Amino acid sequence: MAKKGMKIAESKGRLGVLMPGMGAVATTFIAGVEAIRRQLALPIGSLTQMGTIRLGKRTEARRPRVRDFVPLAGLENLEFGGWDLFHDDAYEAAVKAGVLEARHLDPIQDFLKGIKPMPAVFEQRFVKNLKGENIKRGAYAALKSRVPYANGAPNLTVDTPALLELAGKLRVPVCGKDFKTGQTLLKTIIAPGLKARQLGLHGWFSTNILGNRDGEVLDDPESFRTKEESKLSVLEYILQPELYPELYKNFYHKVRINYYPPRGDNKEGWDNLDIFGWLGYPMQIKIDFLCRDSILAAPIVLDLVLFLDLAQRAPEMARRGIQEWLSFYFKSPMHAPGLYPEHDLFIQLMKLKNTLRHLRGEEMITHLGLEYYD
Ligand SMILES: NC(=O)c1ccc[n+]([C@@H]2O[C@H](COP(=O)([O-])OP(=O)(O)OC[C@H]3O[C@@H](n4cnc5c(N)ncnc54)[C@H](O)[C@@H]3O)[C@@H](O)[C@H]2O)c1
Repeated sequence: MAKKGMKIAESKGRLGVLMPGMGAVATTFIAGVEAIRRQLALPIGSLTQMGTIRLGKRTEARRPRVRDFVPLAGLENLEFGGWDLFHDDAYEAAVKAGVLEARHLDPIQDFLKGIKPMPAVFEQRFVKNLKGENIKRGAYAALKSRVPYANGAPNLTVDTPALLELAGKLRVPVCGKDFKTGQTLLKTIIAPGLKARQLGLHGWFSTNILGNRDGEVLDDPESFRTKEESKLSVLEYILQPELYPELYKNFYHKVRINYYPPRGDNKEGWDNLDIFGWLGYPMQIKIDFLCRDSILAAPIVLDLVLFLDLAQRAPEMARRGIQEWLSFYFKSPMHAPGLYPEHDLFIQLMKLKNTLRHLRGEEMITHLGLEYYD
């Protein structure tokens, strides 16, 4: 039986989405939303648009779409803007990013040309491999303006104690960091499976070739350091070597990113896993993921926009600042002080869906199910 859900204000009017950096991910997201609005494409990869949620007993057959279950803003109400250190409008930037093909960009060219970036706040000494001309001085003030904030990059931005306290005080939902796409997404799918079956790991070597601007920036060792940390820690947390020393103590983990322009946004990620089973016998798993990073990132942006807006309208959620239930989308999920981050994709999904059930006063799903056999 559904109890009373949380108070959620109605979604009214337009919902503005502002993105610092109108590059591959941002333009793939914007163009995709417009194509979906014009019914030229499907929102594949978006949990809010395509996903369903089971409610109550399995025998009740209640499985609404997520977007029909919680009062999310409609795609027709999204408006886009952003900042960049290049002057390109969203159409030019999308063409340069080389993610979407002309057959998707041409029909919505007018719409994309209307989105022009505001001047960026940029500090050259932090990012050596980028030189731009559309720059101003100052700081983003998302929190002070009570704008919910999702950080898709690995840098800290709001992830400091003072800013997180401010987020809670001002009732601004925040989440981050670093979108979980590509190789790390696969890691958080496979590692929970190895652990579930108590299979051991000697080593996991991951290497990538990619040729987008992100790859160019990450070719610089200093810029790669924060990214490397967020990529490496995932396995440590999922495999819990302190609990399973015989299986995971001292496993060797290496991640490499190589800038290789011919591939553009279409990265190739290789993984070699040296695992072991019964009596310690070794086995290997090889993965070659021909991956499109921005195609995986764009639906994440859409879901985060809609869920953060929802959290903003639910005072019980907003007052908590960090929205840990959105860990599902991040490589380095933000969490309360004193907690460890949850990286297992399946636990993250359960947490997300249970949060939605909680918001609507529905029963938590435990998967016990003994009553079906009474
Ligand atoms: N593509 C993915 O799957 C993925 C996954 C995880 C994280 N990310 C992160 O998302 C972000 C965007 O990725 P992308 O592939 O679109 O990269 P991109 O290089 O195509 O786009 C980034 C844009 O940001 C602009 N920019 C740089 N510094 C800026 C500043 N200070 N202010 C405003 N604009 C600035 C650049 O000019 C560029 O146009 C990156 O931080 C990346 O690390 C992407």
